[in-house]
Amino acid sequence: MDALNPFVFSQPVDPDDLIDRDEESKRLLALAEGGHAVRLSAPRRYGKTSLLRRLGRDAEAIGMNYVEVDFYGVLSEIEVAERMEDGYAVIRSRAGELARSAIRALRPGISVGGGPVRVDSRPRVEERTKRLLSGLLDLPVGLFERTGKRTLVAFDEFQALLAVGPGIDGLFRSRIQRHGDAASYIFAGSHPGLMNELFGRYERPFFGQARAFELAPLADFDIAEYVSGRFEKTRRSVGAALDPLLDLAAGHPQRAMLLAHQLWEQTPIDQAADAECWQRAVTTVFAEHDEALRAAWDSLETKEQAVFAALAVGGAGLFAERTLTRFNLSKSSARYAREALVRGGQVRKVEGGWQPVDPLLARWAVELQHNGGEDHLR
Ligand SMILES: Nc1ncnc2c1ncn2[C@@H]1O[C@H](COP(=O)(O)OP(=O)(O)O)[C@@H](O)[C@H]1O
Ligand SMILES: [Mg+2]
Repeated sequence: MDALNPFVFSQPVDPDDLIDRDEESKRLLALAEGGHAVRLSAPRRYGKTSLLRRLGRDAEAIGMNYVEVDFYGVLSEIEVAERMEDGYAVIRSRAGELARSAIRALRPGISVGGGPVRVDSRPRVEERTKRLLSGLLDLPVGLFERTGKRTLVAFDEFQALLAVGPGIDGLFRSRIQRHGDAASYIFAGSHPGLMNELFGRYERPFFGQARAFELAPLADFDIAEYVSGRFEKTRRSVGAALDPLLDLAAGHPQRAMLLAHQLWEQTPIDQAADAECWQRAVTTVFAEHDEALRAAWDSLETKEQAVFAALAVGGAGLFAERTLTRFNLSKSSARYAREALVRGGQVRKVEGGWQPVDPLLARWAVELQHNGGEDHLR
């Protein structure tokens, strides 16, 4: 039987399947052990959650508890509390059992099904929710008292909390700051503007409260080793398609995996990928992502599209007269739109300038410039 496709691109990868990130794991673990809070920032799909899982495994191996809470999409305090409970629900160790019985004690009077329905006033419900949330946030203290182990708490997509309301980060901070030896915190987030709102503004409770840690793109060398290794293990060779793959992926972790996945699909067993396999892979990737790329493009303001396209095309600098004329920008509108793209996470600063974060969207935008119309890249 033929092997299964070895390239995962749509969910966090297993700690053993991570490309590189060894240095990052080591440094983050040392910070957690030392009780330091860290804010882990990187664009979407850069491997934050995957890295957190690896860190969690390493933390457990040195005798810490690990809990991971994903706040993506939360809208209310009650949902925040539920996400915290979800995080503790999956811990298998004794700490998990202890946490779950503590959670049951935090929710007295909440019985599932049956019984008379108590209708509470809104202020009472809010009050109870706050108490529940405070109790959930304080769980590491109880765990420390009972097990003597520090808990590493990972709050993933932490910026999503901002949707809940103005006081929520204050509530978090007011509990967390008393945790001392009981817990270390890592706050992961993908939206630079919102993360900055939480950690970079003087008047916010988390201002200056966590060490900044950024995830860089992957090195071509590491991607190359991983991709060719996995092709070989499954009786294929990545062959001449490796260079164009590295070129298009531009170090973007998920884009590299996505392209490798499609290339593998196009490469028959016991053969090497050639230019035709690569071409088919690229065509498939763009066809399957056409709607998503269009939606990403349409979500940008006109001037943001212009700056994004200018950066994607490259060549002369953004502020060169030629570029400004061609993309119908003034210096100030270009600067303004670039800042908006940075806040939104579509563009990031790299050595030597500013770059689109998503290389697929960048290629798509370049094609749009060249071919225009409806059918480009199909
Ligand atoms: N270090 C890595 N090695 C291999 N694949 C990675 C790595 N980092 C990210 N990926 C790819 O990116 C995808 C998204 O990873 P994920 O951890 O969910 O990112 P994030 O949490 O930043 O959105 C994974 O499915 C995988 O294909
Ligand atoms: Mg994630």
